[in-house]
Amino acid sequence: MTKIVLLEKIHASAVAHLKSEGFTDIVQLPTALTGKDLADTLADTDMIGIRSATHLTADILEKTSRLRAIGCFCIGTNQVDLGAAAARGIPVFNAPFSNTRSVAELVIAQAILLLRRIPEKNARAHRGHWDKSAVGSNEVRNKLLGIIGYGNIGAQVGILAESVGMRVCYYDVESKLPLGNARPTASLEELLELADIVTLHVPGGNATENLMTRDKINLMKPSAVLINASRGGVVEIDALHEALMEKRLAGAALDVFPVEPRNEKEEFVSPLRGLDNVILTPHIGGSTEEAQENIGREVADKLARFMKAGTTRWAVNFPELPHVEKEARSRVLNVHRNEPGVIARMNADFAAAGLNIVAQHLQTKGAIGYVITDVDAVIPKSLLQKICKEPATIRCELI
Ligand code: NAI
Repeated sequence: MTKIVLLEKIHASAVAHLKSEGFTDIVQLPTALTGKDLADTLADTDMIGIRSATHLTADILEKTSRLRAIGCFCIGTNQVDLGAAAARGIPVFNAPFSNTRSVAELVIAQAILLLRRIPEKNARAHRGHWDKSAVGSNEVRNKLLGIIGYGNIGAQVGILAESVGMRVCYYDVESKLPLGNARPTASLEELLELADIVTLHVPGGNATENLMTRDKINLMKPSAVLINASRGGVVEIDALHEALMEKRLAGAALDVFPVEPRNEKEEFVSPLRGLDNVILTPHIGGSTEEAQENIGREVADKLARFMKAGTTRWAVNFPELPHVEKEARSRVLNVHRNEPGVIARMNADFAAAGLNIVAQHLQTKGAIGYVITDVDAVIPKSLLQKICKEPATIRCELI
């Protein structure tokens, strides 16, 4: 029977989904595991579910022989040695899209609050001032929202923005299909000059480091606001601080920072602390109950599809094969070193046994090849052993 271990208080939606898919041997533990406890647990586990605190290093993975799949019930996968897992034929799944809507909703809320000057009014009310003026407070209706990075989150922000009456333009380095009435701008500069609200949804990394430099921030209208819920390094924080202090920008909302505390005990340090026209949130754009529930369901579904059909679509470290229902009597999953002749030798073995292959799906990624073979017959044990003992084979099983 397939044994599944879920660590680190993974959402109940994961267990519910796995049970609905027929998996019954599910062990849940509230914390992360390390060292011997982790190694002992993995020794008799087929699938493990973790969040960010369990580290599946090459050393730990080397000791496993039964483990078949890893589910990261979160977005990041840095806590797993992805190469070591792939080299052992173990796909790793995560949930990259489960919190898209949560981030998009926060951005719309921030746009509305900033244009109404609520952060200042809220701060002043807390200090005892009754600032009942309409000056500088605006509706978002008919304002232009400029989205930088029109990917999963950016595009969803655009749709929500139109539903409250904003006009939407976007800039992306790739050509993107505009949704609703959004329109692409010819350049980043054009977007910055026109938009009343600029929101950043680009990936992190070298290519977007300090994308919003002093010069770029200076292109924005003095009445405009800047929102960053992407990655902290995308905005040059000192330049933003200067622009806000000199009233060359009306306000900002930041959920991500170049340096973020590693835990709740560390102090959050930023030059933007104490500015009344800035909303600061502790990287919680995607942190909602709904997102956690979605993550539970999304990763559990990927694990279940892998175990039942060998599907590796959306695996982060592995050749991706789409979901194809198993219709033939036998399905062989074969992970092998990506080198010439492996498939030819395997197919020759099937032919020599008089077995007809009804479907075969192959994909490679780097040094790894993965093939699913459907045969409409019972595969003799001796033939399976022969195929599995082929020197290039990393992992081979019948489902
Ligand atoms: P995505 O990959 O779907 O979209 C990113 C888009 O940015 C792509 O369309 C890409 O072509 C575009 N892009 C890349 N470089 C660009 C550049 N220099 N200028 C303009 N466009 C550029 O990513 P997704 O899922 O929409 O995530 C966006 C960001 O949000 C990421 O940085 C992610 O880490 C962050 N995020 C933040 C969360 C939070 O809690 N605040 C939660 C989830 C994601």
